[in-house]
Amino acid sequence: MRIDKFVSEQYGVSRSDAKAMIKKSQVTVNGTAVKSSDMKIDPDNDSIAVCGKEISYRKFIYIMLNKPDGVVCATRDGLSSTVLELIPEEIRRKGLFPAGRLDKDTEGFVFITDDGALAHKMLAPKSHVEKEYMVTLEKPTEKEYEELFASGMTIDGDEKCLPAKLIFTEDKNVVRLILHEGKYHQVKRMMQTAGNKVIHLKRIRMGGIELDPKLAPGECREITDEELEVLY
Ligand code: URA
Repeated sequence: MRIDKFVSEQYGVSRSDAKAMIKKSQVTVNGTAVKSSDMKIDPDNDSIAVCGKEISYRKFIYIMLNKPDGVVCATRDGLSSTVLELIPEEIRRKGLFPAGRLDKDTEGFVFITDDGALAHKMLAPKSHVEKEYMVTLEKPTEKEYEELFASGMTIDGDEKCLPAKLIFTEDKNVVRLILHEGKYHQVKRMMQTAGNKVIHLKRIRMGGIELDPKLAPGECREITDEELEVLY
């Protein structure tokens, strides 16, 4: 890997700032100041420091985004803004993608990474990573909903869903719903089958990681190592 690319990605600066730091001899590889921005380094074995402080190499990045309404979960879209456009330059890297999708009008937790293997594991139907949603409904819920969702509902005639857990809240029009899978428009279609309609949807948890309440819509932060351990 080129040293300027490494510094830019791992130190969280733009490529041109990384080059400027190299020019000012602020970057060292194994204790020797780097002279050229295109020097090749081995991130796993070389010791790289910026202004005397060693940078530990992180191969992959894991981001929690609080997706706002109106943004699409895609890497590219001709018409709408995408979740990737909300990632600040300091942590943006090539290869990032949203692991799992929310509808354009759904808000909340989107997991963004460049670690394809982990995303694949997390999204595999067998892994059953829990996803929890806060659902606001057009009509008040009824007691029977709990059993209906727990029994493994069939939607759109023949699509069988895994048992889901419904948790009532003080507001009769708001429930929490825990799913172990991610079918297309699943929450909306389940609620439609129950005779209701979703008017607002927000994902608030993925596996053991809760959406950070400090993140305003559109904001993101890196997921900590401790959080990653409880993802599934
Ligand atoms: N279920 C839905 O209907 N929409 C989402 O965005 C996520 C789950």
